[in-house]
Amino acid sequence: MAAVIGDKLEVIDLTHSFNRQEIVHHVNFTVRDGEFLSILGPSGCGKTTILRILIGLLSPSGGTIRKDGVDITAAKPSARNMGIVFQNYALFQNMTVLGNVEYALQFNAGLKSRARSIAENIIEQVGLTEHVNKKPYKLSGGQQQRVAIARTLALNPEIILFDEPMSALDAATRLSLRDEIKKIQRNFKSTMIYITHDQEEAFALSDRIMVMNAGNIEQLDTPENIIQHPANRYVDEFVIQNLRLKIDSLIKYMGGKGVHEVNL
Ligand SMILES: Nc1ncnc2c1ncn2[C@@H]1O[C@H](COP(=O)(O)OP(=O)(O)OP(=O)(O)O)[C@@H](O)[C@H]1O
Ligand SMILES: [Mg+2]
Repeated sequence: MAAVIGDKLEVIDLTHSFNRQEIVHHVNFTVRDGEFLSILGPSGCGKTTILRILIGLLSPSGGTIRKDGVDITAAKPSARNMGIVFQNYALFQNMTVLGNVEYALQFNAGLKSRARSIAENIIEQVGLTEHVNKKPYKLSGGQQQRVAIARTLALNPEIILFDEPMSALDAATRLSLRDEIKKIQRNFKSTMIYITHDQEEAFALSDRIMVMNAGNIEQLDTPENIIQHPANRYVDEFVIQNLRLKIDSLIKYMGGKGVHEVNL
């Protein structure tokens, strides 16, 4: 596969097996510079495995990963300039918001002297200035996830990976954090890879969506093209029918008629 200008990441013939059972099957895709790409698929389809391989926490059974045209398949996580945001925030509970965001900067020789001002600036950008001296347990789940995002942003990674960052949050918080993530991407212009099993979230956030099923990519395309031209029956059922059902139940909830033929 030839690299195209604008490709940030190329994933070539990636496979992974656990206990001799292959669970990621010869996957190929590229992520463009500055793109918001969602990986959408049901539980167990291999999303987190791919993400762990991309960030360097897991060595793949086969295949190549290139970043800016350079093979990074065997590079250490710290050499990849990628950041990750997990579902469970993974904050230090004994440190304040400021301490959590400053922490990673202390270990970076180039940023250490400016750690405080960088941290304060990022905390302001995610709207947490008034909570800067609080410990995480005093914050809501959505606010804690903002701290985790701020901590990742502070190191200015070229690529930010999110592994179902909203699955522990209630619906209203998810909506506001979704807007926040979109805003952050506009401001920071980083490439983002966002794992979710929520169709609506993927459609609201993404430039392109990679639809996965059992270790394979079923379709990788823009939300519009997926709606208009689902690649196969799986995409039609898992993505489009599920979105229709959600819209139906929303309309019912709001007191309208249940409409099945929603024009997506
Ligand atoms: N360390 C491991 N050892 C053995 N099997 C594993 C390991 N990690 C994941 N698996 C298996 O690999 C498959 C893919 O797991 P993975 O965590 O990548 O799925 P996922 O798409 O992220 O699912 P979820 O949406 O539930 O997080 C699953 O069948 C899982 O049980
Ligand atoms: Mg997962």
